Formats: sequence, C-alpha cells, structure tokens
Amino acid sequence: MNSERIALITGANKGIGLQVSRELALLGHTVLIGARSKARGTEVETKFTEEGLRAVFVPIDVTDHATIKAAASLISERFGRLDVLINNAGIVLDAGTPPSQVSMGTLRKTFETNVFGAFAVLQTMLPLLLKSEAGRVVNMSSGLGSLTQNSDPNYEFANVKLLAYNSSKTTLNAFTVQFAYELKDTSIKVNSAEPGFTATDLNDHRGTRTVEQAASIVVRLATLPESGPTGGFFDENGQVPW
Ligand SMILES: NC(=O)c1ccc[n+]([C@@H]2O[C@H](COP(=O)([O-])OP(=O)(O)OC[C@H]3O[C@@H](n4cnc5c(N)ncnc54)[C@H](OP(=O)(O)O)[C@@H]3O)[C@@H](O)[C@H]2O)c1
Repeated sequence: MNSERIALITGANKGIGLQVSRELALLGHTVLIGARSKARGTEVETKFTEEGLRAVFVPIDVTDHATIKAAASLISERFGRLDVLINNAGIVLDAGTPPSQVSMGTLRKTFETNVFGAFAVLQTMLPLLLKSEAGRVVNMSSGLGSLTQNSDPNYEFANVKLLAYNSSKTTLNAFTVQFAYELKDTSIKVNSAEPGFTATDLNDHRGTRTVEQAASIVVRLATLPESGPTGGFFDENGQVPW
C-alpha cells in the first residue's frame, strides 16, 4: 500500500466518524474531513493539524450532489486518488415511531441521506478509488439493518422497529453486495460495518458503547490487507448475518 493513504470520511465532524478519522490519521492517513458545516469541519481540521495529524476539511453534504462532485474535483486535483471511503454520514428520524405511523416524508428524508447519499458518494468517488492500489470502502450500516436479526424475536434490539432507519441500512447492505461483486476483480474491497449501540448524538447518547469501541471494526475494514474479505457485513466479533 502507498505509505500515505488518503481517506475520506463523510459526517466526520462528530460521533463515530470523528473517532474513525482520528484513528486513521494516527495510523498515518491523510484524513479528508467530510462535513456539511464549514465551521464544524474546519474546527476538526484545525484541531487535528495542531495535534500533528494530516487533515483537510472537505465540504460535503451527501444529499447535495453538487457538493459531492466538488469534493471529488478537490480530491482529484489535490491528491489524484482516494484510498479509503468511509460512508458514515447517517440520520435517524423515526426513533420512537411505530412503522404504521412513519410518514412518507420521514422515509424519503431518511433514504436521501442514508441510502441515496451513500450511493451518490460511492459512485462519484469510484474513479478516484480505482486509482488507488488498494481501495477500501466501508459502508456504515447497523445491526438494525440485518433482516436476520430483525426477524429474530430474541434479538437484543428486537423491539427497535425503526421502519425508515432499519430499512435504510438493509438497503445500504444490499449496495455493499452489488458494488463488491462488480469490483471483485479490482483492488477495491467494499464492506458493511456494524459499530454497535454507541453513545452519540444519533441516540441522545443512550448507546452503551464508546466511539472508540465503535471505531475498531470500521478502522479494521478500512485497512484490510489484500487477503481480506469483500462484500461482507462485520462487527468487531466477525460476520453479522444479512
Ligand atoms: N450510534 C450508534 O449507535 C450507531 C449504531 C449503528 C450504526 N450507526 C451509524 O454510524 C454512523 C455515524 O453515526 P453516529 O452515531 O456517529 O451519529 P452522529 O454523532 O449523529 O453523527 C452523524 C454524522 O453524520 C453527519 N450527517 C448527517 N447528515 C448529513 C448529510 N446530509 N451530509 C453530510 N453529513 C451528514 C452529521 O453531520 P452534522 O453534525 O452536520 O449533523 C454527523 O457528522 C451513521 O451512519 C449511523 O447510522 C450508529
């Protein structure tokens, strides 16, 4: 692998994305801090730079195609390739809402970010990832996106039936499989990560895991050796059922 790896993390300004960015930077990556807020993105860039880490703020709102295209141009001009893409930006809009009460607007909005946004970023960044000698894509999924777990009444989170959020992560997992197959003869690996129930703003910090624990599987998938898997769904203990 190149000694200096270039990694783009969407939603890198807080939560799990911020921790993943820090850990990849500590491993020597140049981290591109994808954030939709200039103030929040610049703040992370400045902090990391002061700590001696290589970080560059890249404006990116995954629901705004113009910003994704502009980000790809910036990365192309400045670095000429992308080695790691962490499709991390995500939202939950239907917490506490039973499936029968979810509005079409909530479903659409959730999919705009978690599904169409992730797709648009991956598709737009693909030419740059193909220029890497070992491209790694990590789609930030969730155990809640596992149909096997969701349909198991004994699953720890069986009562968390967030129709919009859960199905958005199921769809993201489907994208992992489709892209991994298309790219199987390239040096790019595409995998889904399940970070576990983690204390972040996404769940008003009710999660029981730390961002450090959550980041471990993401960083592992982002730094897989050539012999590593592609087209899989993993948490820190191994494979998660689809
Ligand atoms: N926390 C958990 O228990 C858990 C479990 C499984 C999976 N996950 C997944 O892990 C990922 C990170 O979640 P988190 O817990 O770290 O949540 P978080 O702290 O709320 O962070 C979410 C990040 O996504 C960004 N974002 C949201 N919409 C965006 C958009 N349209 N364009 C660009 N960035 C956008 C947010 O930016 P702003 O600051 O601008 O809002 C923020 O940086 C998500 O995909 C989530 O579904 C989390």
